[in-house]
Parts: sequence; structure tokens; C-alpha cells
Amino acid sequence: MTTEIILAHSESMEEAVDKAEKLLAAGELVGLPTETVYGLGADALNPNAVAKVFEVKQRPSFDPLIVHIASRDDIHQVAKISEELAPTVNALIQAHWPGPLTMVLPKQDCVPDIVTSGLSNVAVRMSNHEVFNNILKKFGGPVAAPSANKFGRISPTSAAAVAEELEGEIPLIVDAGACLEGIESTIIRVEEGENGRAHLHLLRPGPVTKEELQKVGKVVRKKKKSARLLAKEAELGEMTVAQEAPGMSDSHYAPATPLFLYEKPEDFIPEAGKKYGLLSYRGQEKDGYLGAHEWAHVEELSPGKGKLAEAAVRLFYCMRALDYAELDAIVVEPISEVGLGVAIMDRLRRASVI
Ligand code: TXA
Ligand code: MG
Repeated sequence: MTTEIILAHSESMEEAVDKAEKLLAAGELVGLPTETVYGLGADALNPNAVAKVFEVKQRPSFDPLIVHIASRDDIHQVAKISEELAPTVNALIQAHWPGPLTMVLPKQDCVPDIVTSGLSNVAVRMSNHEVFNNILKKFGGPVAAPSANKFGRISPTSAAAVAEELEGEIPLIVDAGACLEGIESTIIRVEEGENGRAHLHLLRPGPVTKEELQKVGKVVRKKKKSARLLAKEAELGEMTVAQEAPGMSDSHYAPATPLFLYEKPEDFIPEAGKKYGLLSYRGQEKDGYLGAHEWAHVEELSPGKGKLAEAAVRLFYCMRALDYAELDAIVVEPISEVGLGVAIMDRLRRASVI
């Protein structure tokens, strides 16, 4: 299969939207831009189309997909919202949709089991990307879209990165330039809590921070279960992996080159004859990593003062650049875990082999 990459600029927007819509309607997959990362879109209500997503991504069937909708009201098409949860869900929609927030809620029957990996909940998101939303509106139904990378690999934040992952395997990639957020959406499961205040279970940190969510409900983050407990539950036939935070497996977002996140620069002990690259936050000597070694390649997330938003936008791009630099290993400087720093460190920890 040849993969067409079509630009979605002002003059070519209509053609791009048309082509993407026709392919989605025909049950094909399309690489689509969102404000977080590029997605691999399929008709969410067509199980055969969704099956292709799992096949192309080489994604295990127990890892469900996010369903994207074109307008706020469409949430009722795919999710059931109880009277108790309605005020919280509405407040979250008002504050964060369209935007990088995904809500996990009980699903409507029309959502095929393959989308939710057999779970009774569905993950729903409304993106604020103009091109993406134009395509969704024209298509007229929900679109399931995971990040457009092979399972476990670095999420793509440009059309070129999607092509690196999926060239020859999908018919179309819609190119709308770089993603503005650069990091995947925040995922919460909304549940009834105490005293009328809902619980927001943070399943994946992202651009919408814990502090922002706390304005709407009580944010809870479950501790990770031990390997022993998980094994026991698997033995009992419980789909815990999928229930808690599927796809949140420890190893994720990983480059092919081994990546090491060291809490302190002294923890890095180079081996003779090996080529190392550095992923630095600010590119500042005083942080201790830059001068710790003669790096073969350095990428700086936010040179100078260090801005978290810029670091998030550049994170996956820099990880890809380091991955292509033919290094033996990549060393990563930690970032302070405040605001968006929580989401960035979450991705770096998952990418790290230690
Ligand atoms: O920003 C984003 O969320 C991007 C763009 C394309 O929208 N999408 C994305 O999808 O990151 P993906 O598939 O790479 O990650 C979605 C995560 C997975 O870890 C999946 O396990 C979890 O959402 N998820 C999906 N449905 C779920 C459900 N019903 N319950 C709990 N977690 C769910
Ligand atoms: Mg992903």
C-alpha cells in the first residue's frame, strides 16, 4: 500500500477533509492531527475498521481505544452519564472541552466491544484541533484513535513521525504541522464519590494538570499494584490490566535505543568505547548533566530558562532525534514534577529501562 501525505492548509483543507472522510467511511485507517499527538483514526462503530487499528499498531487486544467526538453533546451517543455524575461531567466539559482531557465513563451499547477491550467503560475525548474536528464533523460519527505509533513506541507529533511508524500500512496521513501540546491527553475515570463530590481517578497525567482537575472533583491516583497481585488476579481471570489503566504498562513511549533516567548526574557511569546521548531539560551546565560526559549528541527540551510547555511539545521529537543518532544509550535529566512536569516525567519513566 502507498501512503499519501496530504497537507491540510487553507487551500488544501477541503480536499484533505474529503479524502480523510471517504476513507473513514470505507472502514480504512487515516493518520490524523490532534493538539496532543497524531492519532490513527478509524470508524469507532465499525468493528472491522477498529480491528485494523490493533493489527497495524501491533497493539494487544486488551488495550482499549479512545473514542473522539465532534461536539460536546455527542458524549451521550457513546457514554452513559448518571444523574449523580452529570454535574461533574458537565463542569469538566465546560472547563476542558474541546481540549486534552479524556473521560472514562460507562459506555453506550452502540460502542463495539473491540473498542473498549470488552470493558463496560469507554474513554471519550473532544479534541480542539480544527482539521481533526472538520474531518469528524464531515464523517458524522465517533472516531476511535490511539496515538499513531507502533505499540510501545514513541508517540508521533508530526506527520513525518507518523510516516516513520506506519508508512506503507495506511492509505493516508493528514499533515497539519506539529502538535501544539506534544503530549497525550490527561485520562481520568469519573466515578461517584462521597458527599456528592465525584472522584476523578487519574489514569494518565497529561496537559490538564491535577491542580486544574481538583477544582472540579477529588483527584485520586491509585497506587500501582504489585506484580504478585497482578499475577494472582490474572490467574483468577480478572482483566485487571485493562480495568486499571490499560496501555499504562511500565515500558512505553520507548525509543529503540536504551534510555536511562538518572535522578542524579553522579548515577551515570559511562562504559569505555560507548556512545552516549543526553536529553537535557534546559541545556544548562549548572544542572550537572551537560558537563558530566562528552556526549555524542545532545537534545535540549527547553533551552535557557526551561519552560514546561515547550519541553512537552519537544519531548517526543527530541526522543526520536536521539533514537536516530546511532547511540549506545540515551541519558535523561529529570524534570521537577510540578504542573506539566508530572506528565513529562511519567513519559520519561516509562521510556526508561531502569
Ligand atoms: O491525546 C491522546 O489521548 C491521543 C490522541 C490521538 O487523542 N490518543 C492516545 O491514545 O494517546 P492511546 O491509545 O495511545 O492511549 C489511550 C490510553 C490507553 O492507554 C488506553 O489503555 C486508555 O487510554 N484507555 C482507553 N480506553 C479506556 C477505558 N475504557 N478505560 C480505561 N483506559 C482506557
Ligand atoms: Mg499511545
